[in-house]
Amino acid sequence: MTERLPPTPDAIAHAADLLRRGELVAFGTETVYGLGADATNADAVARVFAAKGRPHFNPLIAHYPSAEAAFADVAPSDAARILAAAFWPGPLTMVLPRRAECPVALITGAGLDTLAVRVPSHADAHALLTATGRAVAAPSANRSGRVSPTTAEHVLDGLDGRIAAIIDSGACPVGVESTVIDLSGPHPVLLRPGGITLEALEAAIGPVRRGAPIADESKPLLAPGMMASHYAPNLPVRLNAVSVAADEALLSFGPKLPGAGAEFVLSASGDLVEAAARLFDGLRSFDAIAGLRGIAVMPIPLEGLGLAINDRLSRAAAPRDDSKTIFC
Ligand code: TXA
Ligand code: MG
Repeated sequence: MTERLPPTPDAIAHAADLLRRGELVAFGTETVYGLGADATNADAVARVFAAKGRPHFNPLIAHYPSAEAAFADVAPSDAARILAAAFWPGPLTMVLPRRAECPVALITGAGLDTLAVRVPSHADAHALLTATGRAVAAPSANRSGRVSPTTAEHVLDGLDGRIAAIIDSGACPVGVESTVIDLSGPHPVLLRPGGITLEALEAAIGPVRRGAPIADESKPLLAPGMMASHYAPNLPVRLNAVSVAADEALLSFGPKLPGAGAEFVLSASGDLVEAAARLFDGLRSFDAIAGLRGIAVMPIPLEGLGLAINDRLSRAAAPRDDSKTIFC
């Protein structure tokens, strides 16, 4: 059963407690309802993808109570500081480079070197984020392929029984998602139009390029190579491995194959949520090890979160034109 909570201080403290314990809590913001999880807890974030039924690991937005808290996790450019002063708290999301010490789990940003950060203006969201004391990952609280919810009823239509609680803040005042701007590259790029207009952004920081539309969350975020910050492991990836060589690394799922030169356990018990939570750490874990010629990945079932895991792995395994080719 999903608990339906009023936006009172006691209920918000309870919701924050649920988040800190790794549970999923939907909450109202000024734009749309978000499906929240502790962004530093990879397992909780993996369950967000499972609850939404997302077939791909699209990166999620990390929500903070203040610009100061957000900029402790990502490195702001000058333009980012200007936009934060002008539009935060409010319906603007900025994509910025993660700091080395950023505690947000890699799965929150789908393994990217960047992280989308936002400081909502809604009083209930602000109270929840303050009480939680950690970054909260929150995609729109709809099942994948459905429109974003702007009332608690919309959320419960799709997610009742799949999440621990919802804070009912009534109807969302803005009703469209936040504007997403990528400030991690040499030029600001608008990734999603939303609550803050392009004109308002350009008045503050000058010209903003239009990026590829990313409105449809049921599709992968970007085609291979569209984003410079995208991460692919240094080593070639081989899928559905039934044996492994001594100069290969093994990403194991279930009882592991013998004989690998290095290994990372995605899930010893064959649990897809655990494997999803560990996937991006696993892909990075072999970069620093010398003498390996590739990564062998054991078969992962094509069901539930296995769809998203296999989608991400097949991108990592796709042939590369040259060493600079990048994959999402
Ligand atoms: O208004 C909103 O932004 C709502 C509320 C809950 O805050 N959230 C929301 O989240 O709409 P979601 O996950 O439905 O949409 C986030 C968008 C996605 O299209 C995602 O691809 C993009 O932001 N995004 C997130 N992180 C990114 C990154 N590091 N680089 C590029 N795009 C990113
Ligand atoms: Mg969405």
